Amino acid sequence: MGSDSTLVYSRRFRVKTIEAARLRASFAEDVRQGLSARSKRLSPRYFYDDQGSQLFERITELPEYYLTRTETETLRRHVGAMLQGVDAETALVELGSGSSTKTRLIFDAFLQRSATLHYLPVDISKTMLVQSCRTLLKEYEALEITGYVARYEEALAAIGQAELGRKLIFFLGSSIGNLEPHQARDFLARLAGAMSADDAAIIGFDAQKEVRLLEAAYNDAQGVTAAFNLNLLRRINRELAANFDLEAFAHYAPYNIQEGRIEMHLVSTREQLVTIGTMGQQVALRRGESIHTENSYKYTRAQIQDLAESAGLRLDRTWTDAGEMFFLCRFLLA
Ligand code: AVI
Repeated sequence: MGSDSTLVYSRRFRVKTIEAARLRASFAEDVRQGLSARSKRLSPRYFYDDQGSQLFERITELPEYYLTRTETETLRRHVGAMLQGVDAETALVELGSGSSTKTRLIFDAFLQRSATLHYLPVDISKTMLVQSCRTLLKEYEALEITGYVARYEEALAAIGQAELGRKLIFFLGSSIGNLEPHQARDFLARLAGAMSADDAAIIGFDAQKEVRLLEAAYNDAQGVTAAFNLNLLRRINRELAANFDLEAFAHYAPYNIQEGRIEMHLVSTREQLVTIGTMGQQVALRRGESIHTENSYKYTRAQIQDLAESAGLRLDRTWTDAGEMFFLCRFLLA
């Protein structure tokens, strides 16, 4: 348990799992630490259990959540330019197996330039990864897949060492926005470490914009984002034998202008005591006390440029929409 493994599903499909046991241990430990802190917090990386991943898919289809729609349109319009130089030796890496619409847009354009396609998706959820790969393999005969069930850090290290031709790495959906600025810099530095001279990385960044639009995107009328946020407590109840009462928490997601980020919180609506069974831990919450669950940073062009430079990358090109709502940026080694 806990060691890396490769599962061969077919001649065209294999999945490498990296250190799953350590991940499980760190969930319990992260929850313990986050809920004992003076300002309580939980990491957004734990949103994505199977149910959380499904709720996130629904978020991407919400009318208020402009991010996915806008990024997809920019991708659709410019994917040809983004794939410039692709040939049969190019490997396509996707961090977060992402929405199938975006993946298909990339595949279709890729296969106009090459008869074969080696795709390396990375995802923390094995169920999501295997499910989406099975569908893709049925649709695309020219496809060969090496999937990674891993955190991005470990996957990038492994992919950096793999014997591959030129790599084109996609990190879409503004997932980089969920990293703190210092983590985003570390992530880009690791990305740079996995890249060779001819490789390129294309990353989606949500742009800073009117507060009204930002707050609407994280406070949708149907309450899907609230359900996504609360699902974290449901996961802790299930996996760590806790007794959070989901009715006693409210979703709160304001834009913090100074920090340039949407913050997501779960606010306790009454004084309460929660037990986390597997750790014999009791957590006391005051009425109005918050558990901070996510930051979603919004970027300016200048900030993206600075971030890239600090990580040893060069911002080579930026594609955007008419309203400059969302940026797709191509990075090369500096
Ligand atoms: C995955 N990530 C980019 C989403 C975001 O917009 O920060 C997660 C999310 N949280 C609430 N809604 C969507």
